[in-house]
This record gives sequence, structure tokens and C-alpha cells, in this order.
Amino acid sequence: MFTANDFIPKKYTSTIEQGNFEWSAPSNIALVKYWGKKDNQIPANPSVSFTLNNCKTITKLSFSKKNTSTPLSETKDDFSFDLLFEGKPKEDFKPKIQKFLERVFVYLPFLKDYHFTIDTQNTFPHSSGIASSASGMAALAMNFMSLEKTLNPEMTDDYFFQKASFLARLGSGSACRSVKGSVVVWGNQANIKGSSDLFGVEFPNTIHENFKNFQDTILLVDKGEKQVSSTVGHDLMHDHPYAERRFAQAHENLDKLISIFESGDLDEFIKVVESEALTLHAMMMTSMPYFILMKPNTLQIINAIWKFRAETKIPVCFTLDAGANVHVLYPENVREEILQFIQDELVVFCQNGQYLCDEIGSGSIAS
Ligand code: DP6
Repeated sequence: MFTANDFIPKKYTSTIEQGNFEWSAPSNIALVKYWGKKDNQIPANPSVSFTLNNCKTITKLSFSKKNTSTPLSETKDDFSFDLLFEGKPKEDFKPKIQKFLERVFVYLPFLKDYHFTIDTQNTFPHSSGIASSASGMAALAMNFMSLEKTLNPEMTDDYFFQKASFLARLGSGSACRSVKGSVVVWGNQANIKGSSDLFGVEFPNTIHENFKNFQDTILLVDKGEKQVSSTVGHDLMHDHPYAERRFAQAHENLDKLISIFESGDLDEFIKVVESEALTLHAMMMTSMPYFILMKPNTLQIINAIWKFRAETKIPVCFTLDAGANVHVLYPENVREEILQFIQDELVVFCQNGQYLCDEIGSGSIAS
């Protein structure tokens, strides 16, 4: 069994003065949701997600070793970094990065030896209501691992990806599922070999053809700022009247998905996925304080999907994040019919008619 201490490096055998790396990391969409956490970003229940392909963060990390001529404000006792978003300095992102660096410093002890420029951009529109924390933290973690691998060239690929996911998790829980693989499990689950609370692992069992190239069309219902940050949301699960039952249910649903992934039973898949989405929102509605994050158009879309599915028997379903946008999930072989349905009946409920077409991808890529 891994412990966090396994990710504290012993000794670096190589050095580097300066250079840069670039990684793109995708967003992911949870089927069984992570909602509630313990100290140190340990999830209260396991989750599983599809990795996306098109919604990505691309981050270039440039680094140069601090030297004696470095100004006093950038001594070895401090982290030193500039943050660029779409090429321009972005001060509001810095506190989150600073906190991330503090959290991971024990695992990446070289971090104070360099000055970094973190140059980041997303492929999806800014303020689309799509959280960039998963893809953003994953992309940053990949870059830091590339630097660590340069300092320790003996590092194995397994360690590289596991530690990248471990670090990404410390930035944002769901980010640990954006590192490697198409279907990723995070959190201990008795029946899933290798699963861990510390990092995401590629789903190790059989996955039926039906899920190959699975599609996710994201309907942008409300592009506004999130009403509840995920940190506040997770916190609301402490002392929540239904928390324990919910955490047990997540384990049960993940077990169900293991057999669904194997059999390819799309009807059962739909039941688990839609129930998870509504349960996530039910948790928010029944916490204190309570929130409703769905908008009237979210419900309009859900009802339209249910009606369309009943009439056509096409296996399309929805899931939700902690917001009003709707992810429409469906197999590749019904893509044309669903895109037509979205055009005809769902676009009217999207803000400015906007939606994003995505599908299952395979994880972070170095460029
Ligand atoms: C509803 O990963 O954003 O999307 O660990 O506080 O950064 P932090 O939370 P975050 O929570 C995501 C919650 C969710 C469900 C999920 O992705 O599993």
C-alpha cells in the first residue's frame, strides 16, 4: 500500500539550470461523483470519470535556477513565479498556485530553487462555467513531474504518472483523474485493483465496446460565476444529515459500474449516472446552508432528454457538475441523431445557444 511518504524524493542525481516543458491536460466528467473530503484532499468516497478530449488546459512551464544575483525578494526561502493566462499576467490565479506550491513542496523540494513562469491557456471559452481546476492543476503537475524526472532520470513511468496524479489531487481533487487513461477511478474501492485515495488509476477491468468514443456534449446553461465553490461544497458534507448514506451509495454505484462497463448495459449505465448527478444536487439542496445550483433551463433540458429517450429508445443521458450546465452523454453510433436533437430541442435552453462537443480522451500529453 502506498503512503504519501512514498512520494517524498530521497536524492536527485542530476541538475538543470533552466529550460521549459509544456503539457496539455484534459478536463474530466465524473460518473460517480466526488463530493465530500477529509484532511489533505482525501476523498470521502471513491469516484470514477470519463476523461475528456477537447476541453483542455495547455500549460508551459519555464524555469531558471535562482542564483546569487537574484534579488532579495526572490531568495531561496520563497517560491518565485509569474503566472500568465492567455499570454497576460493574471494576478487572481496566483493565490491558488501559491497554495498548491506550499502543499506540494515537501514532495518537490526543488521548488524554491527556481524561478518559474507558468503560461497557461484553456481550449474552452473563459468563464463558460466549465471548471478549469481539474485540467489546470493536472497540466501543472505534469510539468513539475517532467522537471523532477530531469533531476532523477531513473524515475519509472509508473511513478511519474502516479506522482503526477498525487500532486494534481493536492491542487484540486478531481484533477487527479485528468492525468492518464480514459476511465479513471480515484479512491479506495475494494473490488478495484490498485485503487487509492492518494491518486487516480486507470480503470483496470474490461470496458465494453459501447463505451468506446463515448460522446459528451456540454450544454452551457449558465456561464456565470459558481454560486458555491467546490471547497465550500465539500465542506457542507461535514455534519450533513445524509452524508454517511451517500458515501456508502457511491461505493455501491461504483460496484454497479464495474459490471456495467463489462456488459455494456446502457440502460443500467443511464440509471447510475443520472441518479449520481441528481444525488449530488440533492446533497446541496439538503445541506445547511442549502443551495439550488440547477437553473430552470437545466430542468427543461433534463425533461426534454427524458421525453426524447422514452420516444426514441436512444440511450442518451445527462450528468451535472456542481453548476447548471448539462453534460449530455451518449454512444458514438447515435451521434448524428443526438446532435440533431440538441440543435432542434436543447439549444434554446443554452446561454447564447452555446454548447461544446467533446468525447472520451486518453489523458495528458506532452508537447
Ligand atoms: C462536483 O475537484 O473541484 O465536480 O478538491 O475542492 O478542488 P476540490 O474540488 P473539485 O470537486 C469536484 C466536484 C464535482 C464532482 C467530481 O468531479 O467528482
